[in-house]
Amino acid sequence: MEGVIDAHARDLLTRRPGFDWAVTEFVRVVDARLPPKVFLRHCPELATGVTTPTGVPVALQLLGSDPGALAANAEQARDLGASAIDLNFGCPAKLVNRHDGGASLLRDPRRVQAAVAAVHDAVGDTLPVTAKIRLGFSHRRLALACAQAAADGGATQLVVHARTRDEGYRPPAHWEWIGRIRRHLPIPVVANGDIWSLEDYWKARTLSGCRDVMLGRGALADPLLAHRIQHWLNTGERLPDTQWQGRASILAEYAALQRSTLPERIVTSLVKQWLNHMRYRDDEAERRFQAVKRINDLEGLLAGLGHAPQEPGHTPREPRHTTGAPAGTLSHV
Ligand SMILES: Cc1cc2nc3c(=O)[nH]c(=O)nc-3n(C[C@H](O)[C@H](O)[C@H](O)COP(=O)(O)O)c2cc1C
Repeated sequence: MEGVIDAHARDLLTRRPGFDWAVTEFVRVVDARLPPKVFLRHCPELATGVTTPTGVPVALQLLGSDPGALAANAEQARDLGASAIDLNFGCPAKLVNRHDGGASLLRDPRRVQAAVAAVHDAVGDTLPVTAKIRLGFSHRRLALACAQAAADGGATQLVVHARTRDEGYRPPAHWEWIGRIRRHLPIPVVANGDIWSLEDYWKARTLSGCRDVMLGRGALADPLLAHRIQHWLNTGERLPDTQWQGRASILAEYAALQRSTLPERIVTSLVKQWLNHMRYRDDEAERRFQAVKRINDLEGLLAGLGHAPQEPGHTPREPRHTTGAPAGTLSHV
């Protein structure tokens, strides 16, 4: 998720089993082949086997509209070691759409197909090419056509965020529409949008019929959500709710990781940004957010989170489950 989930966040979110793969923030492609440093900035994991430290594969996401430029940058990404390319046709940001990127292509399925086909022709023999769409731009009438266009272009998997671009992030997500697309398409479809809890997960799966879901904001709100879902799928047991201390310790570790490369001012705003996402359905996070939102120094912010420092490396890094695959898989951006 652009500006929110970078390599450090991916690392923290995948320390417990739950996620099967992750996606980078989008790399914005305009016309030229971008230099390696841009790819490495978005996906530092290129230097370490393109997985998170616990071994969860990371796909590299491109956003653009020019098929030739997308193809050239997919080749660049492949040459740098990328193991999967994802194409973003879902971004609703005004600036991005004004420059003809993200969801703006959903107004014409032929453009979706041309973009996917160009990337598939360039790298499809060596790397999986996947796509992410919404249900449309301002209406859903082209939802099936856009999904079909991505498949016809050569996408091996499609993530569907169950809203139109104009619906932004407003609830509800129309999970049943993902089911229509899934039934129509010959490739796997992954359900996305508004999965904040175990109950949402199950409802999204039931209404969409999808085996796989993608978590976005829900994984920031509750960093144990993927683990919670996988544990429930594997055992039928519910894990206890995530306590504030657990959230605070993730935020503190996030700050420590970011601090190694970024100025404190930026780290402070990144930590507040994640805390902001934690407020959803969590009273303690809301209370803490209100208490610290005007604090501008990192030490003060961390003190306000009430995190009790522990020995370095206290956040457990568990190896990824490789056996006992759950009935549904999870991913995040
Ligand atoms: C701040 C923010 C940044 C996002 N950046 C991206 C992105 O770079 N690539 C992408 O495919 N989706 C991006 N998304 C969309 C999410 O991946 C997801 O599709 C959407 O939020 C709906 O799922 P959710 O309800 O689980 O969050 C972003 C969403 C938010 C709120």
